[in-house]
Amino acid sequence: MDKFIINGGHQLSGKVHISGAKNAAVAIIPAAILSDGVCRIENIPNISDVSELIRILYELGADIKMITDSIIEINCSHIASHVVPLEMTRRIRASSYLMGAMLGRFNKAKVAPPGGCDFGVRPIDQHIKGFEALGARATIETGMVNLSADRLIGSHIYLDVVSVGATINIMLAAVKAKGLTVIENAAREPHIVDLANFLNSMGADIRGAGTDVIKIRGVSSLGGTTYSIIPDQIEAGTYMAAVAGAGGDVIIDGVIPKHLESITAKLIEAGVTVEDLGDAVRVISNGHLTRCNVKTMPHPGFPTDMQPQFTTLLAAADGTSMVTEGVWDARFRYVDQLTLMGAQIQVDGKVAVIEGVDRLKGAPVQATDLRAGAAMVIAGLMASGTTEISEIQHIERGYENLIEKLTAIGADIRRVTVAPTDTSVSKAQ
Ligand code: EPU
Repeated sequence: MDKFIINGGHQLSGKVHISGAKNAAVAIIPAAILSDGVCRIENIPNISDVSELIRILYELGADIKMITDSIIEINCSHIASHVVPLEMTRRIRASSYLMGAMLGRFNKAKVAPPGGCDFGVRPIDQHIKGFEALGARATIETGMVNLSADRLIGSHIYLDVVSVGATINIMLAAVKAKGLTVIENAAREPHIVDLANFLNSMGADIRGAGTDVIKIRGVSSLGGTTYSIIPDQIEAGTYMAAVAGAGGDVIIDGVIPKHLESITAKLIEAGVTVEDLGDAVRVISNGHLTRCNVKTMPHPGFPTDMQPQFTTLLAAADGTSMVTEGVWDARFRYVDQLTLMGAQIQVDGKVAVIEGVDRLKGAPVQATDLRAGAAMVIAGLMASGTTEISEIQHIERGYENLIEKLTAIGADIRRVTVAPTDTSVSKAQ
């Protein structure tokens, strides 16, 4: 029942440090199942999607040591079961990686289908196509995905759609298969490269990650490792957008600017100054943005996970902008919430036409999913008056210490707990 309360209109200044990448962490943690040794993983983001996954591994029998908030040691050698039931997986999307990891380790897996953000149908046909190409039989029984193989054998797999999840799952299943697996039309996101680097640091032989052809030569075993996760491209982009919209001068620290190129290019087009400082970016904005058009695409295109945040910026830019969603079928559901704040946006299928208004106005709104929730936070920082955001558990799936980080750069944002029977704000934290 917690909410965020934001008093908008404050310029942002100072420095914000970016955490480890959610979408790398949720692939790398299940990948530890494939190791015979201890995996020390550093720069883990402290977010609920990650704690859910760690809890699943613990319940499956892994030894888990939290060394610090961001360093964990995982030893999965005692995991004996290949079954991951629904009550363990329903809260996160990335539980689908347990399919590839379990299949790669045991030659069989029985995993409940994933939960996660709801923006239309989220099929896994390309994951299954990959597993079958490696020799697994796939069936759905009593709501569980059932995979089994006598032995996984390397194969040539062409993905019909560029899928981050299928690329990762096939890498996990193929890393210990016999012979060579080639994934064509593979996704190229930074977290795919990060997973490949993690697996290679355990003794895998994966080449080409970051291009659309990935070659995996199966190895017989994987050992322990020490590995540090890359910074979160989308968390960084979200803070860049927050500064662009609210105005200010902020150094966004601990990033890989190359991963931010498409976001930086669009911010510059909208009138924002972005300086590359090597392992940081400096964002300077007077809060007055110019219209532009955006189309989301797989990496290195503009990321779909930045679409709601950018649409929010354009809602108060000069002129008419067009945002086209090129990855998901239904990722504009949050627009109704922006409309409550005075935005003028028409959505037709995968296209939103945005007539910029002078200023958004604070209102009670909902975080309808993770990035839509981040967009509501940005809207609240830009708006006049007070914005109250409910359903914030979606936001906490993917943003570490959001309140602390934003407060440190001058935002007026706080979290409150609302008593279940009382609709008024009862306790400030
Ligand atoms: N698709 C298929 N068949 C499949 C798999 C995907 O048709 O078997 C389609 C999807 O319907 C979608 C497109 O392919 O239209 C791309 O889906 P993808 O598989 O790449 O998405 P995902 O792996 O489920 C990851 C991120 C998402 C991010 C997308 C796209 C994780 C845990 N999730 O999802 O991140 O939007 O890639 O970049 O890595 C987020 O972080 O907020 C988030 C939703």
